[in-house]
Amino acid sequence: MRKTLAFLLGILLAGATSSAVAVTAPELPPFPGITPLEYGSKAIFPGLLWLDDKGAPINAHGGGILEHKGVYYWYGEHKLFGKGGNSAQVGIHVYSSTDLCSWHDEGVALQVKDFPKNFVESLNDPMVKGCVIERPKVMYNKKTNKFVMFFHHEFLGASYGTAAPGFAVSDTPTGPFLYLGTMRPNAQKYPLNMLESTRKEFAEQLSRLKIKAQNKEFANVPKDPVVNVHTDDKTPGNTLSRPGEKSIPDAVGMMQTRKELQEWGKNKAKGREKDDLGFWGRDFEVGQMVRDMNLFVDDDGTAYHIYASEENRVTQIAKLTPDYLGYTGEYIRAFGGMREGPAPFKSGGRYYMFNSACTGWEPNPTRVFSAPSMMGPWKDLGECFKGRPLMSKISYDSQPTYVLPVPGKSGCFIFMGDRWRPKFPGDGRYIWLPVKWQKDGKPYLEWNSHWDFSIFNKPGYCDPNVKK
Ligand code: DGJ
Repeated sequence: MRKTLAFLLGILLAGATSSAVAVTAPELPPFPGITPLEYGSKAIFPGLLWLDDKGAPINAHGGGILEHKGVYYWYGEHKLFGKGGNSAQVGIHVYSSTDLCSWHDEGVALQVKDFPKNFVESLNDPMVKGCVIERPKVMYNKKTNKFVMFFHHEFLGASYGTAAPGFAVSDTPTGPFLYLGTMRPNAQKYPLNMLESTRKEFAEQLSRLKIKAQNKEFANVPKDPVVNVHTDDKTPGNTLSRPGEKSIPDAVGMMQTRKELQEWGKNKAKGREKDDLGFWGRDFEVGQMVRDMNLFVDDDGTAYHIYASEENRVTQIAKLTPDYLGYTGEYIRAFGGMREGPAPFKSGGRYYMFNSACTGWEPNPTRVFSAPSMMGPWKDLGECFKGRPLMSKISYDSQPTYVLPVPGKSGCFIFMGDRWRPKFPGDGRYIWLPVKWQKDGKPYLEWNSHWDFSIFNKPGYCDPNVKK
């Protein structure tokens, strides 16, 4: 027992104090009775412990893949086994592969920093251990020859209130990536798909409120400049609503304005749920929220950021600048309805997106959306897992994170999902499944306990709208 405890403590400390870029020691003991998927296998076994070339379980959760010069790079959250393992204690792990089955450990692409001795300093450092870094994705920019990483970033102790993307850049795919900063997108910008009349009405209301706020005495502003963005959130199924929790300090001057805007948005939207501009309006001045996110680079090199915004109520899509390091200001409020885990892809000239509902770490039904352009209009094609009814309703215990085009097979795709283990985060599993297609062109998913790439030669695994 003592030995076991010392071993487990060793594992935890190894993760907590590691500062080297290479992660050599396996962090998980092999599980008795479980045959892991060894390095060198030529098949995918969804949900099985998947070992890298060093014999350690692949540690790249909420991940995504970048292909560069014939090599695949898998980036994901490095999670620890025990408590606190869902927060960033190590950083973003990267693996490489040429066959998508056997993965070579390339170490930590973006590291978090050791906790400084001075506690106040740690609160000011966005990349300190214990912050939250989720769903990292990397793009290669041909023009600048840089690798650009985006991730959902939560500052230490922010309890999902930062809701902003972090940016990092590197000259090589394996890093080390340089953290550039964290910033909410599209402050003071109107979505492309907002009606002109709504825009006008909002702008007028905003200027009235600004004048009112300026005239207000600061004595009216509560002393503790902390906004609880979650307490007023009573939506069933919103697991981010944790009454009593504090969020990040807010700009004191804007507080009244933002609250009033929220009220305005809610009153205005009564009976028109889809047009509820409450949270959008609240964040208009400071930039839109970004939680679960993904990136998409189109055939012409234009890149898009896709993210759960407005307290997860609206999925927004924003166009990025040609260097991929900023926003052009063009964005849409793509669709509503508490969605997370957006995983976009393009097939036969159409755009698709798998995504989940919002139930924290618990699985729920995946849906698929489709659009003729990244900037919409997006249409909900409905739930998309088939098979055993109960398992389909929880997406076979998975949540989408990425969709990978199958090399050399246009119209064929791999769904990448996470099977979260919130109590033992480092033991989260990967659910990779071949995307299937209905005759009417709707993509769907089905359980498959093991498969290899020859499956894509079978009927039903290729988009019927893609010409061979
Ligand atoms: C589900 C999200 O998809 C994850 O990335 C993470 O944010 C958890 N919720 C947190 O509860």
